[in-house]
Amino acid sequence: MELQGKTAVITGGASGIGLATARQLATSGVNLVLGDIEAAPLHEAVESLRASGANVIGLLGDVAKEADVFALRDAAVSEFGTAHIVFNNAGVGAGPAIGTPKKVWDWVMGVNVDGVINGINAFVPMFLEQNEGHVVNTGSLAGLGGVPGMGAYCASKFAVVGISECLFHELLLSGKNVGVSALCPGFVRTRIHESHRNMPDELKSYNETPTTKAISDFAAKAVNSGIDVTEVAIAVENAIRTNTFWILTHEHSAIRTTEQRAAWMQGGPPPGIDLSRATKG
Ligand SMILES: NC(=O)c1ccc[n+]([C@@H]2O[C@H](COP(=O)([O-])OP(=O)(O)OC[C@H]3O[C@@H](n4cnc5c(N)ncnc54)[C@H](O)[C@@H]3O)[C@@H](O)[C@H]2O)c1
Repeated sequence: MELQGKTAVITGGASGIGLATARQLATSGVNLVLGDIEAAPLHEAVESLRASGANVIGLLGDVAKEADVFALRDAAVSEFGTAHIVFNNAGVGAGPAIGTPKKVWDWVMGVNVDGVINGINAFVPMFLEQNEGHVVNTGSLAGLGGVPGMGAYCASKFAVVGISECLFHELLLSGKNVGVSALCPGFVRTRIHESHRNMPDELKSYNETPTTKAISDFAAKAVNSGIDVTEVAIAVENAIRTNTFWILTHEHSAIRTTEQRAAWMQGGPPPGIDLSRATKG
């Protein structure tokens, strides 16, 4: 896709990977619609992008709510005429497979999976109709292999990878000029380890248990030794330009994880878990 003058909608656009990608696309002349659930960072992101000359609007909303994601599409249409790119990127992390209350699972699945489903339903029909568009869904290395302490997160990211693969095949069969990419990073320096800031109030006490605290301390260390967001943003932009499905910012870890799973399926040992390998690639 030639990017100059196109319009991208980015969820989770007020922080981390979403904001860095907004900055990257703005330098290529892309109009932006940023969606986020956090008002102050969203306002700040929009103001700073505008100050750098970008055409950008921001919309407060929750990606788990269908109407809020359709509102992003409607805002893109009324402000910029249409949208060409949707980056279904908002995400949160919490919850080992053992002992996580169902309501916490629901929150993680609501943001990470329903958010992607809502983005596909809101934008793909319009992309097919105009015979132009690209979807980027944010998965994770945690969508390619199971990780202890990350049950709900892994479940949601496996779902995102699966949905993205299905969408790839359906788009290919449609014969239209609409593509999809699955972004599967390892650790990236963002605020993902502070996801509980966006937890519904009634779930926040869950985050105070010794187990969840230990997991969050570990996640904070891993995230803080991860790669810079700009590296991810450049990879996302390149994938949109070249219509590339896999965006593997930590390619070595992604391939190794996948090979180890395949060997395990064929009777080999279960993969060893060394999360420090997922920091730099
Ligand atoms: N940082 C990493 O190491 C890493 C690794 C793999 C995948 N990811 C994924 O990257 C994506 C972006 O996360 P990040 O690392 O930039 O973290 P981040 O916390 O810096 O940014 C996430 C953004 O999503 C927003 N958000 C949260 N819940 C929302 C909701 N219900 N509706 C709308 N917006 C909401 C947050 O307010 C925040 O601005 C997520 O899907 C995450 O799972 C991150």
